[in-house]
Amino acid sequence: MDPNERTYTNGEITVSWKPSACIHATTCYRELITVFNPRKRPWVNMQGAPTEKIIEIVRKCPTNALTYDWNDPAKKSDKPAEGSYELMEENSRSRMAGKPVEIRIMKNGPYVVEGDFRVIGSDGKEKKLMMMTSFCRCGASESMPFCDGSHRIENFTSSCD
Ligand code: SF4
Ligand code: FES
Repeated sequence: MDPNERTYTNGEITVSWKPSACIHATTCYRELITVFNPRKRPWVNMQGAPTEKIIEIVRKCPTNALTYDWNDPAKKSDKPAEGSYELMEENSRSRMAGKPVEIRIMKNGPYVVEGDFRVIGSDGKEKKLMMMTSFCRCGASESMPFCDGSHRIENFTSSCD
């Protein structure tokens, strides 16, 4: 389990956010800024939309950094079981096998890279990640070379997007 995992509830469902899996691809806040707003603390406002809408957007998170659980144990949950992130990574690798690499420049944000690629560190070891990640473009990330969302705090703007 990610020790930095955070949870947010509206009494009906509990949304979990796993920072280490978040690639800041912006899907959640582009589609539902009333709930997912990285400029606010806490950044998730569970009162910002009806439960069904929150579930719809959580399901679109490309890396499962966002998941949800029904608070009522009788209801079926989407949340991956403990330890299943490694399995998801494996699934991601086989799904992306042979897929051409695509690099998207996020406006005032990171480079999002998706496809069949590997990231090799300066120590020669492969960095563990899914076949989708984001690289810092602003210089402020504390988990280089990856984006950790700091560009928003720094109000990074790029003149060449
Ligand atoms: S990876 Fe998921 S949680 Fe992170 S910004 Fe994208 S949609 Fe939101
Ligand atoms: S681009 Fe996101 S932290 Fe630098």
